[in-house]
Amino acid sequence: MTQAFQKVTAIRGMNDLLPGASARWEQFEALVRDWLRSYGYRNVRTPVLEHTRLFARGIGEVTDIVEKEMYTFTDALNGDSLTLRPEMTAGIVRASIEHNLLYDRPHRVYSIGPVFRHERPQRGRYRQFHQIDVEALGYAGPDVDAELIVMLARLWKLLGLTDVRLELNSLGQPAERAAHRAALIAHLERHQDVLDEDGKRRLYTNPLRVLDTKNPAMQEMADSAPRLFDFLGDESRAHFDGVCQRLADAGIEYRLNPRLVRGLDYYNSTVFEWVTDRLGSQGTVCGGGRYDGLIELLGGKPAPAVGFAIGVERLIDLWEQTVPSEPVPECEVYVVHQGDEAQRLAAQVAETLRDAGLAVVVHAGSGSFKSQFKRADASGARVAVILGGDEVANRTASVKFLREGDQEGSQQQVPLAQLAQVLNTKG
Ligand code: HAM
Repeated sequence: MTQAFQKVTAIRGMNDLLPGASARWEQFEALVRDWLRSYGYRNVRTPVLEHTRLFARGIGEVTDIVEKEMYTFTDALNGDSLTLRPEMTAGIVRASIEHNLLYDRPHRVYSIGPVFRHERPQRGRYRQFHQIDVEALGYAGPDVDAELIVMLARLWKLLGLTDVRLELNSLGQPAERAAHRAALIAHLERHQDVLDEDGKRRLYTNPLRVLDTKNPAMQEMADSAPRLFDFLGDESRAHFDGVCQRLADAGIEYRLNPRLVRGLDYYNSTVFEWVTDRLGSQGTVCGGGRYDGLIELLGGKPAPAVGFAIGVERLIDLWEQTVPSEPVPECEVYVVHQGDEAQRLAAQVAETLRDAGLAVVVHAGSGSFKSQFKRADASGARVAVILGGDEVANRTASVKFLREGDQEGSQQQVPLAQLAQVLNTKG
């Protein structure tokens, strides 16, 4: 006797996408691909698995992602340490170096797919989630930073989203950050008594992240800390002003947020996030910025770059709340039939209808007309094609319109040769 098999469920924080919800995702992805094309972005696909050291070096050893959120394991075959990508930028930069993509000219690229972070799951925070990742590799000027932001504003408009706002900051250049960092460490040392565990741990390793605290007891200390913005030199300020001017040209509002530091170490200069109040605590739908040092850090010839990633689950949640989706029918035409001959004819008729561009489901198996019509109705089809003994004999089909405003309920006989034309012109 075989033992009862214990049901297997999905891994916590990793979601199944079922037919009822996937139509919206497909609609979203189609719209997004058109939007990306309209700005000249081209698709790249890199593996979901990379060497762990790519992320440790690229994202930074002392980040939440690298310290505690990566799915890392040892390849049993050769002992390599491998990690499921927790974001896409490092992999895309690796690929662009490996294939000399930036040898002759800059590139605008995008990638859509799953990423993995071992975070505590809650609404809007998953362990496998999806990103639309967009990277402009080899571009130095503020024009491209601004274009990326304008591009996102256009996407919100295309989706009909109104409740997203832009937060903007500049992280300056490495020397400016170093000067600020020294001043910041001095400030944190003066306020050692209010620092929590994380704060103490990061004091010397990642002092900027200490200011990103949610701990109310540390707010005053964080508010009075020296601001990186005040350490920016002329060039950094000019770059940032250039971005702001172009956003003003495009009529895009933003809030300057000196606390915006992002959770990955590769950023410099412009950083931004788009946030909403409609998704509870996980309200950031998109984040990005400049990372002019990353390509060199990962072994490439120095080249500037800027990009962002959208969290697809969060954005679709917001979209659904703002513009609820209509159920999408399984097909346009549902073919019902009675008898073996009619069933075989149904399969042939369906093929000719598909030739004419219609989406057709043929009732599978048998069953009374009544039960088949129930299925036809549930499929959302606008028309049922009926094939019985008479129809087979006369080479005709009965056509019944199922939806309102579509001559609901009326039925007519149509010669098979004219069926596609009739279905395509009516309704
Ligand atoms: P990130 O801010 O870490 O940036 O992630 C981008 C977006 O992914 C977030 O704004 C959020 O919408 C979504 N997201 C993050 N974690 C989760 C989660 N656990 N569950 C659901 N959604 C999540 C990056 O990943 C950078 N690589 C973006 C970038 C590209 N910067 C330059 N180029």
